[in-house]
Amino acid sequence: MAEGVLFNIVQGIIERLGSRAFEEIGLVWGVNDELQKLQLLVSRLRAVLLDAEQKQANNEAVKEWLQSVEDEVYEADDVLDEFYTEAQWRQMVPGNNKVSKQVRIFFSSSNQLVFGLKMGHKIKDLNKRLHEIASNRTFGQLQVNHEDARFVIRERVTHSFVREDNIIGRDEDKRAIIQLLLDLDPIPTKNVSSISIVGFGGLGKTTLAQLVLNDEMVEKHFELKMWICVSNVFELDIIVKKIIQSATNDIAKSLEIDQLQKELRKIIDGKRYLLVLDDVWNDNREKWFGLQNLLMGGGKGSKILITTRSEKVAKITDTSKPYNLRGLSEEQSWFLFKKMAFQDGKEPTSSTIKALGEEIARKCKGVPLAIRTIGRMLYTRDPETEWLAFKNNKLSTIRQEENDILPTLQLSYDVLPSHLKHCFAYCSLSPPDYEIPVENLIRLWVAQGFVKSSNPNECLEDVGYEYYKELVWRSFFQEEEKDEFGIIKSCKMHDLMNELAVKVAGEGSTIIDRNKTDFEAKRLLHVSFDFNVDSSEWKIPTSLLESNKLRTFLFLSQNGGGDVIP
Ligand SMILES: Nc1ncnc2c1ncn2[C@@H]1O[C@H](COP(=O)(O)OP(=O)(O)OP(=O)(O)O)[C@@H](O)[C@H]1O
Ligand SMILES: [Mg+2]
Repeated sequence: MAEGVLFNIVQGIIERLGSRAFEEIGLVWGVNDELQKLQLLVSRLRAVLLDAEQKQANNEAVKEWLQSVEDEVYEADDVLDEFYTEAQWRQMVPGNNKVSKQVRIFFSSSNQLVFGLKMGHKIKDLNKRLHEIASNRTFGQLQVNHEDARFVIRERVTHSFVREDNIIGRDEDKRAIIQLLLDLDPIPTKNVSSISIVGFGGLGKTTLAQLVLNDEMVEKHFELKMWICVSNVFELDIIVKKIIQSATNDIAKSLEIDQLQKELRKIIDGKRYLLVLDDVWNDNREKWFGLQNLLMGGGKGSKILITTRSEKVAKITDTSKPYNLRGLSEEQSWFLFKKMAFQDGKEPTSSTIKALGEEIARKCKGVPLAIRTIGRMLYTRDPETEWLAFKNNKLSTIRQEENDILPTLQLSYDVLPSHLKHCFAYCSLSPPDYEIPVENLIRLWVAQGFVKSSNPNECLEDVGYEYYKELVWRSFFQEEEKDEFGIIKSCKMHDLMNELAVKVAGEGSTIIDRNKTDFEAKRLLHVSFDFNVDSSEWKIPTSLLESNKLRTFLFLSQNGGGDVIP
């Protein structure tokens, strides 16, 4: 199960149980009491779910407990589906002869009485199991937490210093940004303008900003240079304090925002300044305007340089087009890899090791953080024996420290609201480099119930499209292809993002290739097939037949990708 999405499913169950449809279902089949009990139990579990999801990484008992919750939650979801389908079917029974209709209903397999009894037993059993889960010792140790969009506070710190000789490439990017910074009159009516560098985690945005800030021309051009790391706390008083500190090399004395704003405005008054706001996550316009107002008093040509993973942040803050940072070229990647993986950066003499190294470097797809992480790990390993495993393994199977590539990228996932977590994790069903048909993807999200709207007149596909755009803005998707009318047809996921999706989706989702016949299917929820299924030749792997929870059965290669068998 994708991290952070169980809460969303549970929330959906509670909402369904509270709806008018289920009130009537309860009355018709005489299961009202049991349904209410179910709602109560699921609500009790929901209260501690977020805490449990956070603790599971370091606590085996919590992990197991969560697994049992997950099993029963899916069972509950299925039971509600069964009720709902039956209720809908009843209203749809054709024929206007009242007697024949009643007879047909009575003798059909969906006989009210039989169905009611059968379902009554099912919910009773389910409630019993849920009650046991809620009486478990682990449950008692968990804390109540109702906050949905968890913002994991992991404040990061960066600084303005960089050793240029450690940095590969980026001359062109540096030149382009400097040109924008030196432009004295980008908006004739304003003294201060902003530029943002956008790209996903580890691409080198902070590094590029450091290079720029330390450039000689930039040094001469600006009277005042300031660097602050904003990270995920965007509170005006904290930011203003940091700016004052950066400008004066002194800790801001006042604690009151009014004093602080006066001090800040005095510092920048009339001076041509350059302020770097590194690692900005805030996409709340009001908060941004609050800060911007205080920064407008600079001299002509003052600039705010922002680095962010989110295009949305850039759109709010930027007065020009954001600068989309790209990955390193293959040649640059190999150069950086050598620096990291070999003694003194020397190219290996063995052509086999060189070829292996080049392939591993290529796998990093130009992302400096990935190249550094892997190169650094390989430095201590024997190329003859241990490197091959790295080439073949996924990053997610390699142990990573906090600042390595997957944990760094996961920051972007952790801050997603849970409905988007669901949607992103679902993309693990597409293999790396796969051209994802966007319309199909959105339909699948809708079919899975990930897309929600409180407005009944709103088309769910439209809401799904908003979800998609939100993920694009946050750099989860890239390389969008449009048709001749400008409508988005497909997109791709960077290989590293794909790995992140696989990691967060967990064991509930998998891609099956032609040769994969033996796998643990019991917990599978979503499967996709990455080959053309020829029904005369190919047989469904028997282990798949054991899976009774499957919710997706997706053929990727058929008809240009993404056919579903319901
Ligand atoms: N061109 C480069 N050559 C060598 N190393 C680089 C280069 N660019 C970045 N790095 C290194 O890669 C790592 C990640 O870079 P950086 O912190 O600048 O990424 P970022 O885009 O700011 O990531 P995040 O979104 O997490 O803030 C750092 O260790 C940095 O030193
Ligand atoms: Mg950064």
